[in-house]
Amino acid sequence: MDGGGFWSNLDALVASSRIVVDRPRGSRHGHPAVAYPYDYGYLAGTISGDGEGVDVWIGSGGGTAVTAVVCTVDRSKRDVELKLLLGCSAAECEAILAFHNSGDRGVLVVRDRPGAVTAPGVPPAGSGRIPGPGGSMGEFVRAIAAADLPPGSCAEVRVKDKAVALYNVGGAFYASSNTCVHRGGPLGQGMLEGAVVMCPWHAWTFDVTTGRSTVNPELGIATFEVKVEAGQVLVKVD
Ligand code: FES
Repeated sequence: MDGGGFWSNLDALVASSRIVVDRPRGSRHGHPAVAYPYDYGYLAGTISGDGEGVDVWIGSGGGTAVTAVVCTVDRSKRDVELKLLLGCSAAECEAILAFHNSGDRGVLVVRDRPGAVTAPGVPPAGSGRIPGPGGSMGEFVRAIAAADLPPGSCAEVRVKDKAVALYNVGGAFYASSNTCVHRGGPLGQGMLEGAVVMCPWHAWTFDVTTGRSTVNPELGIATFEVKVEAGQVLVKVD
């Protein structure tokens, strides 16, 4: 058993919940007061072992993918809990474990196999940059018939050997790289809500009009110019 269902269930729970950050990074808590190393909060409308919402930590990687969990046992309160770590790098996971681990109360369980998790949630160097749609020397190439991409839908196509994701946002067409900067998920197979596409693999979200991550604007996907002529959607690629 690889636990894939466990992680994808957690992803779905997070994706369908509102995240409330009630203890932002740097705020202090307890006696003596300890500063929270990262944003900390809970999933509204969920229930954890203490009867409150499920706790979440928000790392620098952006998105809502659960990259690890910290399990804690508090014998004095007779309480066992699971903390979800979203978009946390390996170093952030360790810092969060250390935060919870006074008295050896916590263990860290990282998603995936060792070697694949040196920096969970962080895209490969350079891949998160956002080449904008302007300034490209490419040419417009037919991608799809406009009628085949109704409002609110997205699709993946190949344009001059590039995998491109196309989106119809209320009648306006947009195009981006089909490859999610998290771990390469096919964005054209994702879910489009308004102008935001959710990657089908781990639920990272991007504004398709800008390419930027909705969680961490420093991350994003490449976007391409689009125009419609004679009922055809044309995409400008290099
Ligand atoms: S969110 Fe992980 S691959 Fe897209």
